[in-house]
Amino acid sequence: MLPQFLDTTNVELIHNLSVYFIVAASTVFALVAGFIIYYLFKYRESKNPGTPEQLEGSQKVEISLTIVATLLTALFAYLTLTTIQKVHDIPENPKPFMTITGHQWWWEVHYNESGAITANQIHIPTGKKILLALKSADVIHSFWVQKLGPKLDMIPGNTNHLWIYAEKPGEYLGTCSEFCGTQHANMRIRVTAQSPEDFKNWQDHQLNPVVSTGDSLFLKGKHLFEQKTCTSCHAINGTSNTQNIGPNLTHFASRKRFLADMKENNEENVRAWLENPQHVKHGARMPNFIFSDNELDALVAYIDGLK
Ligand code: CUA
Repeated sequence: MLPQFLDTTNVELIHNLSVYFIVAASTVFALVAGFIIYYLFKYRESKNPGTPEQLEGSQKVEISLTIVATLLTALFAYLTLTTIQKVHDIPENPKPFMTITGHQWWWEVHYNESGAITANQIHIPTGKKILLALKSADVIHSFWVQKLGPKLDMIPGNTNHLWIYAEKPGEYLGTCSEFCGTQHANMRIRVTAQSPEDFKNWQDHQLNPVVSTGDSLFLKGKHLFEQKTCTSCHAINGTSNTQNIGPNLTHFASRKRFLADMKENNEENVRAWLENPQHVKHGARMPNFIFSDNELDALVAYIDGLK
């Protein structure tokens, strides 16, 4: 039976193809193993003593097996090529919904229609095919969320395009799938699929400027953030900090996890990170500023106050 390509998501196409491969390979394996076992018993020495009859082979059998193997290979080449074509059906002038850039070791995310920018916060509306533009800021990374679409490399100086699709709301996990250095294993992906309404609310919130809590520790932290040159790498939308060398921290407090989904976002973990980044995520580009306890209090209050 040939696959029904119409009205099928990319994930289903790839799933179907792998099922065809598994069924074909298992059938061939079962036939070969079955015949070996059958003839082992049928011609065992106790029943057939002495030298067995010597055979020279059969042209008929050889030709027919060659034809069967060629046809099977051709069928699977056809199925593979058509699947690749369907899965990577990128329009001529692609208008990607979002652009994701891989960095050592986090994801920069731009929502192209709205202009929202986040780090590691990949939210998508359900029931809609989402076109991603994939880039890299340094080395080759690879974007792969198994339940939403195929894997695609992110190559420096190049833009690749990938379709993903989520039918139901939920959290979909993935990971960077190309070795990219020390923290490759901690370059995780979490895609949050939301109903179009929830997605719009989330995105609108991301577009809001950061509101000061008015708390004195928050204000002290804000001042330190600027004074200690955190702003040279980290942007916070609505302030004068626009650098995108490190993760954009706008609305950091609204994030459940940080460090590319490595740690839960709570005061304790943020403090440990600021206190000694190399201890938490060895190799990360974040320098150790050797903050005092008071400075840590203020910075944590500021960063976890960016609601
Ligand atoms: Cu990025 Cu591996």
